[in-house]
Amino acid sequence: MTTEQIVLSVEGLKKYFPIRRGLLRRVVGNVKAVDDVSFKIARGETLSLVGESGCGKTTTSRCILRAIRPTAGAIQFRTDESRNVNVADMTRTELRPLRRQMQMIFQDPYSSLNPRMTIADIIGEPLLVNGMGDLTARRLRVAELLDVVQLPLAYMNRFPHAFSGGQRQRIGIARALALNPALIVADEPVSALDVSVQAQIINLMLDLQDRLGLSYLFVAHDLSVVKHVSHRVAVMYVGRIVEVAPTAALFRSPKHPYTEALLSAVPVPDPRQRARRIVLEGEVADPARPPPGCAFHPRCRYAIERCRVEAPPLVESEDGRAVACHRAEELDLSGVVG
Ligand SMILES: Nc1ncnc2c1ncn2[C@@H]1O[C@H](COP(=O)(O)OP(=O)(O)O)[C@@H](O)[C@H]1O
Ligand code: SF4
Ligand SMILES: [Mg+2]
Repeated sequence: MTTEQIVLSVEGLKKYFPIRRGLLRRVVGNVKAVDDVSFKIARGETLSLVGESGCGKTTTSRCILRAIRPTAGAIQFRTDESRNVNVADMTRTELRPLRRQMQMIFQDPYSSLNPRMTIADIIGEPLLVNGMGDLTARRLRVAELLDVVQLPLAYMNRFPHAFSGGQRQRIGIARALALNPALIVADEPVSALDVSVQAQIINLMLDLQDRLGLSYLFVAHDLSVVKHVSHRVAVMYVGRIVEVAPTAALFRSPKHPYTEALLSAVPVPDPRQRARRIVLEGEVADPARPPPGCAFHPRCRYAIERCRVEAPPLVESEDGRAVACHRAEELDLSGVVG
């Protein structure tokens, strides 16, 4: 990736939520929801962020969109005027012109749309807020956006309750596209939808990426969903990235035991080709009290003594992969065939 191609570069991102106790609300600890996360996304690329619930995916997304202020780290964004700006330490006023260039698609299409607004008002709101065009111009743009997300024009004056989950997610996507963003952060955009509808929304996102050159940060708790959307996948565990790889390589030959376990749950068409399902015992560790050494060691079937005391660094290799596991070189882990 050359610098001009990189839309987003996250470096050493941390988000700690203080834990306060007692009458004086003294800080007694921190929930280290995101703890030293770095990655890059190129123009037209989809990077998926995957991990069980509680791994820090949403917190990472909210930091990037500056819904919350990071504790540390840099979030370099390349603006549409080809300037690199660090979103992490910008003020509200400085952020305003950037907000339209980075947009969010939410997980729950049922609660993310205001039930008292018509579809035209919901999709047109970002235009109104940013003072773009008069009423007629905005209606025209809304019509265009409905067409882009393949919804009939006649829906304009209806309210969200009239629509299915998939249709609502299309409305959410149209709204996110209203201001021609470069980057879309999609936090579990299909998790609340039926499997058949998931594929339609994913195909729409792929089609839009092709047509508009969008970059996506695609968040999911499930690896099966990301296979067809992502160019690369970053696997997160307790606030850290434990493995990054191009999608095909990650599915074929995972290098981190956590990735292997997540992959073993991915459905495959031919059951004979399925590696044995690895049941992950226990819960994701508490980011307020992460286990010493490798945070995954209490659940790892390959853990050795060293894993209990020494945290493995994320080590990059030449093939565009990176992994944080002491045993990455020697283990031969099972992926998904085909
Ligand atoms: N505002 C907050 N205050 C305290 N802890 C939080 C807050 N938001 C998230 N967390 C904690 O941070 C961790 C990561 O949460 P989250 O980013 O939502 O994970 P994910 O999206 O991967 O499920 C969880 O342990 C969660 O409880
Ligand atoms: S460092 Fe050790 S505990 Fe952690 S994933 Fe690798 S083998 Fe498992
Ligand atoms: Mg989440």
